[in-house]
Amino acid sequence: MGAKYTKGCTGWLIVLVVAALVVAAVFFAVKKKHHHRDVLPVPGPPGALDQKYADALGVALQFFQVQKSGKLVDNKITWRGDSALDDGKEAGLDLSKGMYDAGDHMKFGFPMAYTATVLSWSILEYGDQMSAAKQLDPALDALKWITDYLINAHPSDNVLYVQVGDPDIDHKCWERPETMTDNRPVTQVNKSAPGSDVAAETAAAMAAASLVFKSTDSRYSDVLLRHAEKLFTFADNYRGIYSNSIPKVQTFYNSTGYGDELLWAASWLYHATGDQSYLNYATVKNGNTFADWGRPTWFSWDDKRAGTQVHILVHYVILLLQEFKLIFILLSRVHFFGATQFSSGEMNGLRSYRDTAEAVMCGLLPDSPTATSSRTEGGLVWIDEWNALQHPVAASFLAVVYSDYMLTSRTPEIQCSGKTFTPSDLRTFATSQVDYILGNNPMKLSYLVGYGDSYPQQVHHRGASIPVDANTGCKGFQWLSSTEQNPNVATGALVGGPFKNDSYIDLRNNSMQSEPSTYNNAALVGLLSGLVTTSSVATSLR
Ligand SMILES: *[C@@H]1O[C@H](CO)[C@@H](O)[C@H](O)[C@H]1NC(C)=O
Ligand SMILES: *[C@@H]1O[C@H](CO)[C@@H](O)[C@H](O)[C@H]1NC(C)=O
Ligand SMILES: *[C@@H]1O[C@H](CO)[C@@H](O)[C@H](O)[C@H]1NC(C)=O
Ligand SMILES: *[C@@H]1O[C@H](CO)[C@@H](O)[C@H](O)[C@H]1NC(C)=O
Repeated sequence: MGAKYTKGCTGWLIVLVVAALVVAAVFFAVKKKHHHRDVLPVPGPPGALDQKYADALGVALQFFQVQKSGKLVDNKITWRGDSALDDGKEAGLDLSKGMYDAGDHMKFGFPMAYTATVLSWSILEYGDQMSAAKQLDPALDALKWITDYLINAHPSDNVLYVQVGDPDIDHKCWERPETMTDNRPVTQVNKSAPGSDVAAETAAAMAAASLVFKSTDSRYSDVLLRHAEKLFTFADNYRGIYSNSIPKVQTFYNSTGYGDELLWAASWLYHATGDQSYLNYATVKNGNTFADWGRPTWFSWDDKRAGTQVHILVHYVILLLQEFKLIFILLSRVHFFGATQFSSGEMNGLRSYRDTAEAVMCGLLPDSPTATSSRTEGGLVWIDEWNALQHPVAASFLAVVYSDYMLTSRTPEIQCSGKTFTPSDLRTFATSQVDYILGNNPMKLSYLVGYGDSYPQQVHHRGASIPVDANTGCKGFQWLSSTEQNPNVATGALVGGPFKNDSYIDLRNNSMQSEPSTYNNAALVGLLSGLVTTSSVATSLR
């Protein structure tokens, strides 16, 4: 019924992390220049394939095919067909593309844009690895299916459509997307009902995707960048939280702040345009406003497990993952193009954050003195019983990326309360999480549908649960309550995941555990791409 996800109010914390990463990047680069510590191997082009992760990557990417809305092209999922062809018509727009959010048929702009940003980031860092595993094309295809939609969802400068479908209507139906007949209203943000969070996240997605398509389709890349800049201006000029402007969206993707998205978008735009005013926006102009450069409270996450605070952490982890992009940005600038000068204000802004980045990594490393104790006995980082795998997947992606940034910048170690850890420690952590997910766990169950010998059979997913020849209309609920396994395999779905006691109940109505989400798959794809070969370096650092 739509994976539970809440936008937390930790904008400042996120911003903190943004700059931490930037500072780390500068630090790494400077350190390299001055010390030449040749203690690490220089990462090279993709090495030998790790077939296990390559296979898993191929499976995970198929979920984007499963989730596609609109008129399908070269469809390889036998039980999927065209759907939602009239989406957007009431506004004179074609919003037929894009992807369904989870097991339902809502198209939520906020997480969909986030999905595109993470996919873009993954492709930018690990496109070579994806290519070595012959998975770059499906990743690009999935990304473009979303960005085509986002372009159409932004018909004029200060209008962005952020949702297609009404959850109250949608969730009263259990049907295949191909036979949907219910009304699918569209929802927009605009000058009088602003949504800086969703507009900026969409700007970030489009700026990031413009980089992905820059060398292969410069016209499309330009279109994306133009939209990104307009959307950023809209988000910045007309400030508001979209779920305040449109209270009905609170039930699913509630937002409690937009500072993090504005900074995030500015960072991507800096990267996409090279315009230093965007960097200044993120580090100086709005750093203080949104960041509250304080001590991070990351390590209190263990103590905040109750109620809504859990969801704040959920979102923190997710956004954390995004903000890591900045380290890459500055790494590439400082490291390879050298010339860029930072003002002392910028440097201060950047430096305020560096410790946070390491602190986050220290929290993940199981042998660190500051390691989070929020883990299952089987070793999985575990924060919330809803959609439990989103945390370990996001955290592991972070760890792999951070590890590769360290390698690339020849940074030998990080310090965690006096104890030293290396890039390979981070990679080992990430590997432990992904191996758990792929079946090395007490249930001996792969949480990635279609991978391995044993995986969930009753995924909470309407299309997968109803036979292709059944035309249920809205009333297909007997397929939700059926005790049979799904007639169609939702290949690539990463289900919500296990309980704290490492157990999993494979029932379709157990949506807390058995519902996949499109945005989780994006992080999983990034993570697997980073692990596909032995050594990694960001593709676009060339
Ligand atoms: C602006 O968006 C709000 C919220 O979606 C909507 O109710 C309103 O009609 C929109 N304004 C215009 C001029 O379309
Ligand atoms: C959404 O977030 C706002 C701001 O934190 C909060 O006041 C509101 O209660 C939340 N809504 C829901 C449904 O959780
Ligand atoms: C594991 O935890 C869940 C949720 O707390 C509980 O329902 C279930 O019975 C537990 N299973 C075992 C095997 O202890
Ligand atoms: C889910 O389905 C199972 C078996 O079909 C049933 O025993 C259980 O009561 C259902 N739970 C809910 C919350 O509907």
